[in-house]
Amino acid sequence: MSTPVSPAAPDLLAMRGITKRFAGVTALAGVSLTARAGEVLALMGENGAGKSTLMKILGGVQPADAGEIRIDGRLVDLEGVRAAKSLGIALIHQELMLAPNLDIAANIFLGSEGAEQSPAAFMGMLAPLPRGEMNRKAATLLARVGLDSPPTTPVGALTVGQRQMVEIARALSAAARIIVMDEPTSSLSAQESARLFDVIRQLRADGVGIIYISHRMEEVQLLADRVTVLRDGRHVGDLARREATTDKIVALMVGRELTGDYFPKKSSEPSSDSVTTGAAPLLEVKDLLVPGAPAGVSFQIRRGEILGFAGLVGAGRTELVETVFGVTPARAGTMTLAGRPFAPRRPRDAIRRGVCLAPEDRKRHGLVLPMSVAENTSLASVGSYNRWGWLDRATERRVAKTEVARLGIKTSSIATKVVTLSGGNQQKVVLGKWLAMSPKLLILDEPTRGIDVGARAEIYRQVAALAAEGVAILMVSSDLEEVIGLADRVVVMRERRVAGVLDRAAFSQERIGALMTGARPAEVSA
Ligand SMILES: Nc1ncnc2c1ncn2[C@@H]1O[C@H](COP(=O)(O)OP(=O)(O)OP(=O)(O)O)[C@@H](O)[C@H]1O
Ligand SMILES: [Mg+2]
Repeated sequence: MSTPVSPAAPDLLAMRGITKRFAGVTALAGVSLTARAGEVLALMGENGAGKSTLMKILGGVQPADAGEIRIDGRLVDLEGVRAAKSLGIALIHQELMLAPNLDIAANIFLGSEGAEQSPAAFMGMLAPLPRGEMNRKAATLLARVGLDSPPTTPVGALTVGQRQMVEIARALSAAARIIVMDEPTSSLSAQESARLFDVIRQLRADGVGIIYISHRMEEVQLLADRVTVLRDGRHVGDLARREATTDKIVALMVGRELTGDYFPKKSSEPSSDSVTTGAAPLLEVKDLLVPGAPAGVSFQIRRGEILGFAGLVGAGRTELVETVFGVTPARAGTMTLAGRPFAPRRPRDAIRRGVCLAPEDRKRHGLVLPMSVAENTSLASVGSYNRWGWLDRATERRVAKTEVARLGIKTSSIATKVVTLSGGNQQKVVLGKWLAMSPKLLILDEPTRGIDVGARAEIYRQVAALAAEGVAILMVSSDLEEVIGLADRVVVMRERRVAGVLDRAAFSQERIGALMTGARPAEVSA
């Protein structure tokens, strides 16, 4: 039942002239944005354009320096998260904000701000509902978002995708009028995303105003009624659904037409490359038993090869690459690297042999947030130019500057703390850190999650260039287009086993999709 809005009615939300400065950076320079009831507004822009900052102001997380915000035409004061909440605004953050030590129901109903400060106080005295009722209500919300874990499951035990669904359930519990979703699908499987889209359509039909941030064009095409584009902290355009073609949106985002090939040109015979030293694999994995997996996994990768790992979220790809990297030692099986036995017991062992992993969860494993861009970039490689026993600051600065330029990292300087960078730029710092190491084998787990279209093409070029230099690249990705566009071969995993290996000539969305889900190709819709 959608709520028709008469032309005379004021907009559900009107933000005007919003300005926000951080030391050295103008994040927002007089931005305006309008959202209507019963509408999905896509908020688009390159990494660092100011999307998350604008939405944090709306959610009361940060105050604006200037500008006004109206809801139903009335001027409001969004001082603090609680004030925003009471005005019906729910913000689903780009970085997950749940308390991992509390269970699902507690996270939904207690709110992580309070829970983080004092879980005990919240559980004991301030619980808004009796436990049984809380669990029942949580179960209903979980069913709506399609998460079938019991409400008493600790959030720490959930996958990133499942945590995202809990965040969404929490927004639903608040019965908000305006729901902001900041890159909600970046860690969801295709199935989970489809479920989320159903939830969004239902909310729209109920008259909720949804502001949707994403770097994925297909989603925007699928969902958005209107598109607002930011560039360098300025509002550069509004497009109605029928005029919002991908080309138009991208042109507004980057301020020029993007031309040329998205994926770098590939030869179909990587192994015949002159760089490779014969047909011997660089890494050979035999019957590797990852903790929790039902059977051993075998595969090999040659120098200069890009090996893709496809599979649904939860298919066991992250666990597998973490075992190869020594995060969790294997329970059985053998690995050989460059002809010598390879059995890393911790990441440091792997790094010494030239194996690097850029992890999926950058906040937990990839970065030291309170440290600078320069320090983070050199973190892993410090040992290699630390010959005299102290940190060579000049080298550190040079390495950092090279990577900032190579990846187009948007930062006011290399001394800037990583915690203040936009999400996509943090991701680029993680990549830069490993590129600086000149690895033999580079493992990338979801390398372009949260990265904007222009920067994404740049990362593809970098990855292809590394492979051309003879680096073996093992790439886990849930983006099938990316796997098909970049990989020489694809290993498809299903339920923690290898479901199949495809050569470049045999790639197709249908084939990979069928192996991922276990359906016969005919049953898989394209
Ligand atoms: N707390 C902070 N301190 C300093 N600078 C900040 C802070 N928060 C954001 N910025 C800066 O503000 C600008 C806008 O960042 P924002 O996170 O809003 O970008 P975004 O559009 O959400 O990008 P992405 O697509 O990468 O998530 C960036 O230059 C960022 O470095
Ligand atoms: Mg952001």
